[in-house]
Amino acid sequence: MSGKETDNGLSMDRQAMLELGARTVELLVGRIEAVGEGGAWDGEFRQVLEERLLTPPPEGGRPAADVVEQVAREVLPYAARLDHPRFFGFIPSSPTWPGVLADFLASGFNINSCTWLVSSGTSQIELVVVDWMRQWIGYPESAGGLLTSGGSAASVEAMVTAREAAGHPEGATVYMSDQSHSAFKRAALIAGVRRECIRLVPTDDAFRIDMAALSRMVAEDRGNGLAPVAVCANAGSASSGAVDPLGAMADFCAREDIWLHVDAAYGGFAVVTEQGRELLRDIERADSIGLDAHKWFFQPYEAGALMVRDTKHLENAFAIGHDVLQDTVWGANHPNFSDRGQQLSRSARALKIWMSVQTFGMAAFREAVQGGLDLARRAEDYAGESPILEVLTPVSLGILCFRVAPRDTALAEATLERVNRAVLARMFWDELAFLSSTSLKGVFALRMCIINHTTTWDDVRRTLDTVVRFGEEALRQVVAEP
Ligand SMILES: Cc1ncc(COP(=O)(O)O)c(C=O)c1O
Repeated sequence: MSGKETDNGLSMDRQAMLELGARTVELLVGRIEAVGEGGAWDGEFRQVLEERLLTPPPEGGRPAADVVEQVAREVLPYAARLDHPRFFGFIPSSPTWPGVLADFLASGFNINSCTWLVSSGTSQIELVVVDWMRQWIGYPESAGGLLTSGGSAASVEAMVTAREAAGHPEGATVYMSDQSHSAFKRAALIAGVRRECIRLVPTDDAFRIDMAALSRMVAEDRGNGLAPVAVCANAGSASSGAVDPLGAMADFCAREDIWLHVDAAYGGFAVVTEQGRELLRDIERADSIGLDAHKWFFQPYEAGALMVRDTKHLENAFAIGHDVLQDTVWGANHPNFSDRGQQLSRSARALKIWMSVQTFGMAAFREAVQGGLDLARRAEDYAGESPILEVLTPVSLGILCFRVAPRDTALAEATLERVNRAVLARMFWDELAFLSSTSLKGVFALRMCIINHTTTWDDVRRTLDTVVRFGEEALRQVVAEP
């Protein structure tokens, strides 16, 4: 391209593009091959990073290869290795290579998956992937949805859809359990629900929503003139993987004429396995469901989805005509995905799911999801058999909450918290594995989320062995203290 009259200095010649692309792919493949060999986390303080990176934008450029090398050396490594086989913190993510390449391709083809006119190919792929999800969930043919950046965006869109389906009433009130994700509270605020109208319903000992309390709160709010518009169920809560009683909630919401949204951001893709389907029984009775393929469906960020039992509710909430887009209306059989959510310009997120499922097949995906369920169960057995570990919540959808708590010695809660915080800190600096913690009704818990398709039992066992070793040392220290 160089040498053309229009060349303003932002183009590259063919050879340079090929070389830079090849080097980038080589770096990526090298990183993926070695990810399990280094620590599960790396990071740096701002001051150190600023010294290297805080520069004004250069007036003249420099060789592109140098820029790539600098990014690979000084920027990208300082991150949690969320795809490390022993990264068990928060919600890990372990993308497959065709998914990564799908993002690269869509970006290179410069796809804007906004309307059928602008991107029919990837709109069709999105229809296909949405229909796969519809079938995995067990939704009727009326159901549909769209790909979103993630669970947070799906929650916002679900909340707006629910509010519109209820006729956008004054005093809109939403209900979720005290275990619901912060993303859902934020979504309610964005949708215009007043802070005091976001009701946190207490949960039982298994961290499932208390139906009697929900029922009481709804009745009381109605009595006070408020308008219940949505109930949000967890189908796996991020903290402990708890699954709310979806059937009972669906019955309740049908009776009360309230929208039921299920936050299945991390747990939802378990439906592709028989066991997961059973754990998420009745999920298909929800009015809407959010689920993230960048969590338990092995895609790179961002790959969320919102599915709605009746697609028309989404379009009622989001479709807005605009003169400048009048040419993009192709009729009902050619949906414009921008009419289903908050984004006009959108990346082609469905492509990564489509390419990786086409490449590996559903049997492999099912086996990989089942692998996470099995490993989490084995981890629970390990903790249950250890004399110094205590299982705090039965494993649910790949999450185990546990702590160091010797069976033969009664220790005060404050001491146990000190011990477990010390263990977590040592795990962090030891770098063999990355664990995070949560608070279960005030009890400090170590937490492992085991959903990476490259994780083996050896990875889980070595991590738990290390927790035990650090736990024994922390306990000895506590006993030795005056
Ligand atoms: C249960 C649950 N809901 C919502 C979210 C938010 O999703 P995202 O980070 O994709 O916006 C998460 C993220 O971990 C989650 O686990």
